[in-house]
Amino acid sequence: MEKTWWKEAVVYQVYPRSFMDSNGDGIGDLRGITSKLDYLKELGIDVIWLSPVYQSPNDDNGYDISDYQDIMKEFGTLDDFAEMLTEAHKRGIKIMMDLVVNHTSDEHIWFIKSRESKENNPYRDYYIWRPGKVNGEPPNNWGSAFGGSAWEYDEKTGEYYLHLFSKKQPDLNWENPVLRQEIYKMMRWWLDKGVDGFRMDVINFISKVERLPNGEMKPGHKYGDGSPYYMNGPKIHDYLQEMNREVLSKYDIITVGEMPGVDVEEAKLYTGESQNELQMVFHFKHVGLGDGIYGKWSPGEWKLTDLKKIFAHWQYGLADDGWNSLYWSNHDQPRAVSRFGNDKEYRVETAKMLATCLHLHQGTPYIYQGEEIGMTNVQFQNLDDYRDIETLNAYRDLVDSGNLSHEEMMAAIYQRSRDNARTPMQWSNEANGGFTTGTPWIQVNPNYKEINVEEVLNDHNSIFYYYKKLIQLRKEHEIIVYGLYDLILDDHEQIYAFTRTLDDEILLIICNFTSDTPVFELPNNITYEKHSLLISNYDVKEDEIIQSIILRPYEARVYLLKK
Ligand code: NOJ
Repeated sequence: MEKTWWKEAVVYQVYPRSFMDSNGDGIGDLRGITSKLDYLKELGIDVIWLSPVYQSPNDDNGYDISDYQDIMKEFGTLDDFAEMLTEAHKRGIKIMMDLVVNHTSDEHIWFIKSRESKENNPYRDYYIWRPGKVNGEPPNNWGSAFGGSAWEYDEKTGEYYLHLFSKKQPDLNWENPVLRQEIYKMMRWWLDKGVDGFRMDVINFISKVERLPNGEMKPGHKYGDGSPYYMNGPKIHDYLQEMNREVLSKYDIITVGEMPGVDVEEAKLYTGESQNELQMVFHFKHVGLGDGIYGKWSPGEWKLTDLKKIFAHWQYGLADDGWNSLYWSNHDQPRAVSRFGNDKEYRVETAKMLATCLHLHQGTPYIYQGEEIGMTNVQFQNLDDYRDIETLNAYRDLVDSGNLSHEEMMAAIYQRSRDNARTPMQWSNEANGGFTTGTPWIQVNPNYKEINVEEVLNDHNSIFYYYKKLIQLRKEHEIIVYGLYDLILDDHEQIYAFTRTLDDEILLIICNFTSDTPVFELPNNITYEKHSLLISNYDVKEDEIIQSIILRPYEARVYLLKK
């Protein structure tokens, strides 16, 4: 397997709106990020993935872009961007931009021109326009990810345009080669400014089956599921190979494609070394565990054995070719400790255990802002305090239709709303967690008095320093990056244990995902001469025998075994 810097790196995701506000308007900004680069340097991360900072009317917090080559007013200016980039590079930190090119904002000049007329309009074909059915209904039955039909009727020209997300996010027509060249030009513009890579938003949605057939009607749903006709569509590999030829291959950068609905076989095609497409993909299999009839809005129980199966499947699947990205959370997911562990009495243990488990897999780990201090989900009593378009629209659709009661929906929101991840970063125990001197755009989680950066920096035993140590270990032990994965104790319902092997070394990773005290038994076929403890989230005696270990709640240990 080829060795490269982006396999060895650790990425930290910044959601700019909620990271740090430098001017008191209640909205995080670029200067705020620059002011916290030393903090990130201290943590030891290599790359920042910056959620979108482009000009946007913020229907979907920047994932609706109205100008790809300018900065959102609330976030600052292109000069602020240049300063942030220079300061990051000075500290050896790279910047990966979010590239949102499945759709633009309806306020992008391309769309404004596109909707003007049908004929003799070079921009018409930048988007996906279709006439309605004979009865005036939308061209097909697809639903949008944010509720309602995926089609919006436009009076001016009497046709519908496709929007897989909100109606303010019209889908681009990748069939159009002129549009594709415009996008590549824009990408080169950013790369020539010195940015170090791209995280590509729903990039496996860009190729649609041309006929746009109706989707299957699933029980409890008002619209058809069009995903088989736009996920991993017929020309997706042509487009990504073209993008690679025209842009990506000319720079030494990091690339990761966000890909709902991707499985391992497809991931090999996207990330395989000879494919010349992307380096990594984000899959959704583990974060969808427990989803019910209304997806995440009817969350159910999940089983550790299922989580293990998913991880193992991806680890084995991409062992020889391709590369994994590793994440528990991001700006669309709930907080890791709340989702996969115990965010109350064992919050600190859980956070460290989850970090251990994730960072010891093969792949590039992604840390979402606040994860390194153990931030948790939030519970706003009032629906009005939520800001996320997906959450608000889902409430409207599911509660107003009588499918879910207010109580059921609020319970689901507390577990899975994207706003759980979007409350401001908690820097200190001062007002608003030190995020802003103004009124934050979304309320701070009231637990900021106990959970904040100042606190963790003053405690050498904190989650923060644990992450720092994990990152350092990655730099010291090649086996953490390149070692081959093997699942052990496959059917154990409380313990997730696995090994990594490189030459004459074996890493043994043991994680207890419960508040019980299960016993770990080392399988007989793992033999070694010497063992040493690399990291653990409880005190462990150096010379403790590892053949049989009674684990404490959410305990995690990593041993290095030498043959
Ligand atoms: C995925 C992004 O992560 C999410 O935040 C956004 O709403 C959709 N794509 C649409 O861009």
